[in-house]
This record gives sequence, C-alpha cells and structure tokens, in this order.
Amino acid sequence: MKHHETDSIIDNQIFTRDKLSYLLGLSNEERDYFLRAVGKRYTALLGTKVFFRGLVEFSNFCTKDCYYCGIRKSNTHTDRYDIDDKAIVEAAVFAHENKYGSLVLQAGERSDKAFTERISKLLQTIKQATNGELGITLSLGEQSAETYQEWFNAGAHRYLLRIESSKPELYYKIHPRDEKHDFDRRLNCLHTLQDTGYQTGTGVMIGLPFQTYEDLADDLLFFKDMNIDMVGMGPYIEHSDTPLYQYRHQLWPLQRRFEVALNMIATLRLLMPDINIAAATALQAIDPMGREKALRYGANVIMPNITPTLHRKDYSLYQNKPCTDEGAEDCANCLSMRVEMAGRQVGFDEWGDSQHYFKRIKKG
Ligand code: 5AD
Ligand code: FES
Repeated sequence: MKHHETDSIIDNQIFTRDKLSYLLGLSNEERDYFLRAVGKRYTALLGTKVFFRGLVEFSNFCTKDCYYCGIRKSNTHTDRYDIDDKAIVEAAVFAHENKYGSLVLQAGERSDKAFTERISKLLQTIKQATNGELGITLSLGEQSAETYQEWFNAGAHRYLLRIESSKPELYYKIHPRDEKHDFDRRLNCLHTLQDTGYQTGTGVMIGLPFQTYEDLADDLLFFKDMNIDMVGMGPYIEHSDTPLYQYRHQLWPLQRRFEVALNMIATLRLLMPDINIAAATALQAIDPMGREKALRYGANVIMPNITPTLHRKDYSLYQNKPCTDEGAEDCANCLSMRVEMAGRQVGFDEWGDSQHYFKRIKKG
C-alpha cells in the first residue's frame, strides 16, 4: 500500500534508528507526503505561532579552527570586526521596540577575561535598556562553568551550543584533534548549561562529508537522550577558504542537503513535539524559500538578522549567506511577510520559551 511505511511510523511512533534513517532518506513523492503529514500534525498540536529572535553577530574574532567554518582563526582572508557595545545595545533596543521578544548574541569563540567580563556588563546594560522585557540567548561557544553562571546571573536565560555531530569519529574529521576542540569537553558544556539553568539548545550540520543517514538518525536520538530544549540545525555549505573544502566532490548535491535538512526538522518535530526548532539561515543560502519551508514542516523559531549592515558580509561562516546587504528594518519586514506566506503568525512581544524546558525542570 502506498505511504504504508511512513504512516505506520508516524501513527505508531516507532522511533528506532532504522525508522528514523528511513524517514531522513525519503525523496520525491513519499517525502512530500511525509512533510505534509508532519506539518498537519504539528500545527494541530502546537498551533501556527512562530517566534522571532533578533540575531546580532557582533564579532568574528575566533580562537578556534573548525575545519568547516569561514571565520576560523587560520583564515587570513576574513576582515575581522568587533561591534562596539553601544551599537549592540542599539540593536537590542531595536529588537525590543519591534516587539521581537528575544535577542541572540552570537560571536566567534573567546574566553579571555576581558571578553567574559564585557559580556556580563553588556547583558546588564541590555536588560536595563529594555526594562528586563527582552529575552536574551547567548551563542558564544565553550566556556567554564563559572562563566556560564556569571552570564546567567547577568540576565541570559538561553544558550545555543551546537554539537555539530554527535558521533565522535565524525566530529574529529571536521575539527582538529586537540584540547581546544575536544568532543567530551563540548558535551560537558551542554550538561553544565543545563545544570546552570539555561534553556539549552544544540544542533548539527547536515550533509557533512562522511555523514550518513544513520549518523543523522543518531543525532536526533542524541537530542532526545540529552533532553534538549531547542535545536538549530541546517545544511553544511562548503567554504573555499577552509580545509573541509577539499571534500567538496564527495558531498550530496546542495539541493539534496537542503531536502535532508527539512527531513531532519520534520522528523525531529515528531520525536520531540514540544521543543523549539529554528529555521536555520543556511537553509536560505540554498533555497530562497528555505526558511518558510522549514516553518511549514516543523520549525517554530526564526532569527531575523539585526547585525548592523556594515559588518554582515564579514560574518561568513559559509558562502552565499543571505541578507548580507539588508538592514535590520528590511529583514524585519521581509521576514514577517515570509512568515505570513508560510501560513504562520509571529508571536510578537513573547519570549516563546521552549515548553519542553518547563516540563524538564519540573521533573527535576
Ligand atoms: N556551513 C553550514 N553551517 C556552518 N556553521 C559554521 N560553518 C558552517 C558551514 N560551512 C554553523 C555551525 C556553527 C554555527 C554558528 O554555524 O554549526 O555552530
Ligand atoms: Fe533579511 Fe529577508 S530576511 S532580507
């Protein structure tokens, strides 16, 4: 019978590694059927609201050397920038005035004292400037437990730290094997973030060299095992100034990476119905309607870029990054229109917290 296998997995909620791999590998008509089924199911359960997180990529100075990333320390072709605190606070006020509810501060990884103290002060200033009404998410990489605590005390309540791949063997193919890029250390950071009290987000890249559907199925099971509250994941996009570029001939075609990324989002929505899932910007680097499609099939968070335009082009983690010429206003208007087109509404002025988080902390 047509669609029998897909229906049976969805209806009976059989989420073994094999079944998940099957869903991730779907293509053509069966895939369309699956995505639509998830879309219907999840809007019935969660409604059609999606949440904005204003994204400020405030610096591309980075002490790490990940093999995939355009702003890695060894890339001498990147112009480095660091937006001053005043401009960051202005961006935060813009987010607040435009009723975004939340802000994400992201930058290359640094853990020197000057940096960690600067962030604490910045958090306090932003909280004050927005009457404590703006939710703040940090995406600043691996830090000590003390630093995570200090930033939490200063007002951050969510943290994003992608595991990139939950399979150590693959992790070490895309990172140097050294102390600064240690898999266990990264994993520990996620536990520490949860223990500190953050709503904790992670994620992976999809379509990496050497990656299989089974690996991706394991990534989804990892999110579930870890009891994660939020996930941001998107297609891997090769960057010519990085070591991983040498494997570009053995990648899935870009279009397939995009398809599998949507399959991942839809499958994760089945597996973890109450978490927040972001429509990653990298989706739009491949398909102009990429993020809208993600919203239809399981994502409920979208991150308008509110980085001051002058520096956007230098935060090139991957090539063909969208919205590098637009200003914050342009992105806001463009994105609300896009959200409406996807049949969704923006939850203005709401933090849009992960429901999963509240259940997790209640259970203790
Ligand atoms: N392609 C896609 N995503 C990338 N990231 C970094 N480099 C790339 C790339 N080449 C993602 C990583 C990181 C996030 C901030 O950006 O997953 O965690
Ligand atoms: Fe930036 Fe559309 S979201 S221009």
